[in-house]
Amino acid sequence: MTVNGSERDVDTAANATLLDFLRDGLRLTGTKECCDLGECGACTVLVGGRAINSCLVLAGECDGSDITTIEALAAGGRLSKLQEAFLATGAVQCGFCIPGQVMAAHHLLHRNPHPTIEEVREGLSGNLCRCGGYVQICEAVVAAGHLHP
Ligand code: FES
Ligand code: FES
Repeated sequence: MTVNGSERDVDTAANATLLDFLRDGLRLTGTKECCDLGECGACTVLVGGRAINSCLVLAGECDGSDITTIEALAAGGRLSKLQEAFLATGAVQCGFCIPGQVMAAHHLLHRNPHPTIEEVREGLSGNLCRCGGYVQICEAVVAAGHLHP
């Protein structure tokens, strides 16, 4: 598969999830493991441009796929406008859910560059935040939409 622009060999147990492969195989630990049940969104990555819960997909199923993780968003070590917006609105509290929130928001903004607050709520409805920072998270995504060219 291609991960963040680099071709990577998938040599892993048949029952290993994409999340296992990214975190344990490639040490891309920005993608978080939490519920392992597809309920929290902490493990969100893009597969072929679609946001998915990587804990629900087997690594082997992604053979030949194009994967994007949170590590790819800060090109050249600079945070993306979306990531900057998360910081500016105070959306990052403990930070555990944030990579998944950012990847879901990145996907939303790709489909809809200027979402309303309702559209952001709907788009991020699969991503839980234990710190309860939903207001700031949604504000960050709306603000990033305003920055979008
Ligand atoms: S760890 Fe995948 S949805 Fe929670
Ligand atoms: S910022 Fe702590 S879980 Fe979301």
